[in-house]
Amino acid sequence: MQISQKSISLKNWDGSIVIFGLLNGDIETQLELLADVIEKDYLLQVLKDQNFGGEVGEICSFNLTQDKLMKLVIIGLGKPEKLLADGIRQATSIAARECLGSSEKIGFIYPWEVIDYSIAAKAIGEAIRLSTFKDLRFRSNPEEIKRPEKIELLGLPQIENTLINQISPICAGVELARELVGAPPNILTPSELANQALEISKEFKLEAKILNRKQCAEKGMGSYLAVAKGSDLEPKFIHLTYKPNSPAQKKIVMVGKGLTFDSGGYNLKVGAAQIEKMKYDMGGSAAVIGAARAIGELAPENIEVHFIVAACENMINGSALHPGDIITASNGKTIEVNNTDAEGRLTLADALVYACKLEPDSIVDLATLTGACVIALGDEIAGLWSESEELAKELEIAAEHTGEGLWRMPMRNSYRKGLKSMLADIKNTGPRAGGSITAALFLKEFVTESIPWAHIDIAGTCWTDKDNGINPSGATGYGVRTLVEWACNKAIPHTIKN
Ligand code: BES
Ligand code: MG
Ligand code: ZN
Repeated sequence: MQISQKSISLKNWDGSIVIFGLLNGDIETQLELLADVIEKDYLLQVLKDQNFGGEVGEICSFNLTQDKLMKLVIIGLGKPEKLLADGIRQATSIAARECLGSSEKIGFIYPWEVIDYSIAAKAIGEAIRLSTFKDLRFRSNPEEIKRPEKIELLGLPQIENTLINQISPICAGVELARELVGAPPNILTPSELANQALEISKEFKLEAKILNRKQCAEKGMGSYLAVAKGSDLEPKFIHLTYKPNSPAQKKIVMVGKGLTFDSGGYNLKVGAAQIEKMKYDMGGSAAVIGAARAIGELAPENIEVHFIVAACENMINGSALHPGDIITASNGKTIEVNNTDAEGRLTLADALVYACKLEPDSIVDLATLTGACVIALGDEIAGLWSESEELAKELEIAAEHTGEGLWRMPMRNSYRKGLKSMLADIKNTGPRAGGSITAALFLKEFVTESIPWAHIDIAGTCWTDKDNGINPSGATGYGVRTLVEWACNKAIPHTIKN
């Protein structure tokens, strides 16, 4: 996809589709810009008949009879003082779906005077590319999909390239994450996940280390390996590293839950638990590997980034975990497994201990950890737990920039009592109420206290059953954009004019 700017004169423009962003406000004056190609009174009348007020996402399209210009799509952008990058993404996604099936040039006329040019351009690019993504890998005879290839921003004075150049690497990272999550569990096995991570490391010059069962056992990862025991497939512990050319000032770690299938184990998922969806229990690892792909290509300076996934399956066989087993994690803590379906935290325990040994400045983990988080926040908002004010703030700001829903949740230490075991140091499951909080408190037991750490529960956001702004239904690739924004754009202020 190519993004460039052009003069606004529609008469001489050689594209066929124009998307016009209309603010909620004085519609008549805004429509002056279209006077060249369509009669204003007619436009006004149609908009009036349709009760078009310019709210975000309101849409109205017109077929035109000019030589080249075939279609005009008017899309609402809401109130100017409320217009942020995410409003642009939402509106542009809706307009983009209206133009699906066209691989031609699309022109945009947005009220550039109210939006920071390069932020708007990046938001438009991301929205076009991500909202028109379709996964056809598993069809025997896939239909051809046409996605807009050329984007021209009409009447935009000048755009700075820094943010524009991020569009393609970031979107490729999101698409990779969507493909990893969308792939079925008979194809995306722990070994295949490791292979894909290796491919990424070769393409983008990342260091790669893949540990097998024996090597993990040598490191004492009894918690992670206990989950893997019930599967015929080999566990793979994945560690990629991005290092800049000159020594970095900061070292950060991203950890992702990587259950390529979660049957629940002997606490088998039954009834409403939707076992058939549990291929997406590796959504955290997909976000982390997607971010690795993007960061590898963006090659930011000053920051070293580690990507860690303890990948395996939660299955049932004669050597699987029994409910009631007591196991030992790599920091020496003993865990009573009172529920084999609370397996993600068992794999993350050893991954977090490993992450802390790298002595990073901060650690963020992403995990499809609890059904309780889905109930609390739905499919558009992930839960964020952190006792570091600074890290929590950084992540909240990054998520606000990308438009990925993220809401800080309480790390209520008194709920730790719910994890008390009669026999071991801790049990893996607390009471049903507050289940995503006790899950976060369980993870905390495996993180060195002095290292700022945040946990993001993406059980709700990693998949959606509805078309959701820039996410078509299916795997969302949630987390990639926020992780990349957090790692790479801390220094870029995100301002909207006015
Ligand atoms: N992978 C699930 C969590 C999940 C649920 C993800 C729904 C996506 C959608 C996790 O391993 C799990 O089974 N959690 C249990 C924990 C419980 C046994 C304490 C849950 O949330 O039911
Ligand atoms: Mg489970
Ligand atoms: Zn799980």
